[in-house]
Amino acid sequence: MCTQHCHVAFVYVLGLLFGIVASVDLTAKLLDDKLDIDLMEERECYGTTNGFGYSGTIDMHYQRLKQRYTGCTYVNGNLEITNIWQAKNHDLSFLKDIRYVSGYVLFGVVSVEQIPMDSLVMIRGNHTKELMGDHYSLIVAVTADSFNLSQGLKEIHMPRLREITNGKVLFTSNPYLGYVNTIDWDPIMRGRPEDVHFLDSAFDEEVASVNDTSVCPGGSRWGDDVRLCQEAVYDNQCHDFCDGRCYGDRFSECCHDTCAVGCAGPLNTDCFVCKDYVYEDRCVGFCPAMTYTSMQECVKYGDED
Ligand SMILES: *[C@@H]1O[C@H](CO)[C@@H](O)[C@H](O)[C@H]1NC(C)=O
Ligand SMILES: *[C@@H]1O[C@H](CO)[C@@H](O)[C@H](O)[C@H]1NC(C)=O
Ligand SMILES: *[C@@H]1O[C@H](CO)[C@@H](O)[C@H](O)[C@H]1NC(C)=O
Repeated sequence: MCTQHCHVAFVYVLGLLFGIVASVDLTAKLLDDKLDIDLMEERECYGTTNGFGYSGTIDMHYQRLKQRYTGCTYVNGNLEITNIWQAKNHDLSFLKDIRYVSGYVLFGVVSVEQIPMDSLVMIRGNHTKELMGDHYSLIVAVTADSFNLSQGLKEIHMPRLREITNGKVLFTSNPYLGYVNTIDWDPIMRGRPEDVHFLDSAFDEEVASVNDTSVCPGGSRWGDDVRLCQEAVYDNQCHDFCDGRCYGDRFSECCHDTCAVGCAGPLNTDCFVCKDYVYEDRCVGFCPAMTYTSMQECVKYGDED
């Protein structure tokens, strides 16, 4: 369990990283004024590796998921949400505080109307799910209610999602799902929009053709509400060399490779968010000796307070 120190430190680091955005003239690459990370308590929870399966009754399964993720902000591992029925009045509001998932995110056989992940900023994709020979880090599949096929998942709310660092995205068999085709996946996917796969019945064409671009810039949105506009918007293109993250368009203006989301300069102290861990105010790929990980932070042994 995390101590107060690391909660505060993590919030501080997020504040610091996002604070840089506000204080540095970034030639407006990101619309960061909207990224107001609340000073809420951070909590780490551990993900699962069950795939589409579950054990016990459907109600026990739902209660276990709810218990695991309520209040969680950092998912260490994979977020697997499966076998959730609208017909059973399940709801997924317990996912609303999650900001970071280190593995993959799977929604399979989920028929509630909405998936409210309004806080989610990034999916690291450090582990991916293999399906049909591809490696996915976000999957939304089979979302009509099997008790009543005329209802199912309609909206996924991920307005703050800024990065899927690694792995591909799959949408399939979602007859009622809207808006996912309005999303500008390029900035989220770090320049790999072709890795977003819309397979059979990926989304509802009719909802998607409702075409009111006045609500959100470019019309990119996760639902029909101004709060659900896509926040990941970039003004300029990175050089091919940059892996989709840069602070200018030249090949010499790439972000450090430990950065996620974006950066204000070339160093690992210039990142907006760290891909993996934070150590002494800089991003690192793994925590050094004599430290342990607490969410995204490397904490020195003996420094817990
Ligand atoms: C099935 O879902 C539809 C749409 O939500 C609803 O109108 C209908 O009453 C439902 N049927 C049953 C048997 O619950
Ligand atoms: C939005 O409307 C424009 C103009 O009416 C049309 O050309 C475009 O195809 C529409 N887009 C979608 C996604 O329906
Ligand atoms: C990613 O995976 C590596 C190897 O399994 C592990 O050492 C590292 O801690 C992981 N990073 C995150 C953010 O989970």
